[in-house]
Amino acid sequence: MAEKSLYERLGGIFAVAAVVDSFSDQLLKNPKIVDANPALKEWHTVKFRERMPGLKFLRTLWVASVAGGPFQYTGEELRDAHRDLRITPEVFDEVVAELGKALDHFKVPQREKEEVLAAFNAQKPDVTAGSKVGG
Ligand code: HEM
Repeated sequence: MAEKSLYERLGGIFAVAAVVDSFSDQLLKNPKIVDANPALKEWHTVKFRERMPGLKFLRTLWVASVAGGPFQYTGEELRDAHRDLRITPEVFDEVVAELGKALDHFKVPQREKEEVLAAFNAQKPDVTAGSKVGG
């Protein structure tokens, strides 16, 4: 029998969406993320009101797709979606730490937690490209 996908082991779309929902709300409370630069500050204090539901949807779709679920992420390339937010490697690590806390909160087992975090970390060069000169 084929091994279950990460998506199945996480518990499917409702489990993925619950983690993304909680994680996305927690980021709003972390000053190292909210106050990191003017673009992130504006997003987390003003824009989030109309954009957070869509962002939660797209993040959920991305995780569900990367984890091998029956969905395909068709949003913007992560490099383009994050360019103007100028996310530094330090801010990226802070966001990943918050994701780790959310996975712990939902008692996701160590192996699956590590796989989700590895999938995020693999995007670091693309997501932080906007913080580099000329990025
Ligand atoms: C692997 C890591 C990450 C993934 C998978 C991810 C996923 C996504 C996705 C799917 C979108 C929507 C793209 C679209 O418009 O189609 C997005 C946008 C966004 N991401 Fe990320 N992201 C990551 C890292 C980060 C980090 C480190 C931050 C820092 C706070 C961040 C903040 C944002 C914000 C504020 C938006 C919304 C931009 C807008 O309003 O259009 N993301 N992200």
